[in-house]
Amino acid sequence: MSNDPSWSAVEAYLVDNLLSDDYPAAKIYQANKAADLPPIDVAPTEGKMLQLMVRMAAAKHVLEIGTLGGFSAICMARGLPDGGHLTTIELSERHAAVALQNIREAGVADKVTVKVGAGLDVLPTLDPNKKFDFVFIDADKANVPNYYEWALKLTHPGSIVVVDNVVRGGAVVNSETQDENINGVRRLIESLKSDPRVSTTALQTVGTKGYDGFLVAYVL
Ligand code: DHB
Ligand code: MG
Repeated sequence: MSNDPSWSAVEAYLVDNLLSDDYPAAKIYQANKAADLPPIDVAPTEGKMLQLMVRMAAAKHVLEIGTLGGFSAICMARGLPDGGHLTTIELSERHAAVALQNIREAGVADKVTVKVGAGLDVLPTLDPNKKFDFVFIDADKANVPNYYEWALKLTHPGSIVVVDNVVRGGAVVNSETQDENINGVRRLIESLKSDPRVSTTALQTVGTKGYDGFLVAYVL
């Protein structure tokens, strides 16, 4: 599926008009590019959506699985009240170092802890009695169902779990795919039909990042 140029034009228009000048997206993308990180950060409008979702949920404790260069972490941290905190987990030490620098420069270092390691190694080390109000899952897609289970262990009724990249250019509907990333997402989506623990939806998105989508689960 090829990208329609109007998707990026509209994204730029929305960014120009809706996201305030102090928004750190361009600076962070630049820093990530200079450090040779893959350009798979969330789009600016999506980052702002995450910020607003954290705020709408009145979340105080946020967990992110998959930091990359820290753009989404910064966005969510900006949605936190004073005293709020975000823990973000990153596999790559190099990516985590770039993220920490970006987080410092964005002025949210006091609100963010970056933990380095594989999600499935770090998650069991978190205090199971400290529940998160909001979880953003944006790491390797093959493990999405495992991250989702950890998210439910570490949340409470009323928490929100958001999963990035659940459409992947439309590939999510390909039942024949051998791609373990697509199959990870498919396993989660298909399990939710009979999951009484959550109320869910997903939205398709287009923009500078192409055609994708995100899933939202409200923990019951
Ligand atoms: C990929 C990962 C992401 O989290 C994303 O938002 C886009 C692409 C990827 O691994 O290709
Ligand atoms: Mg993503």
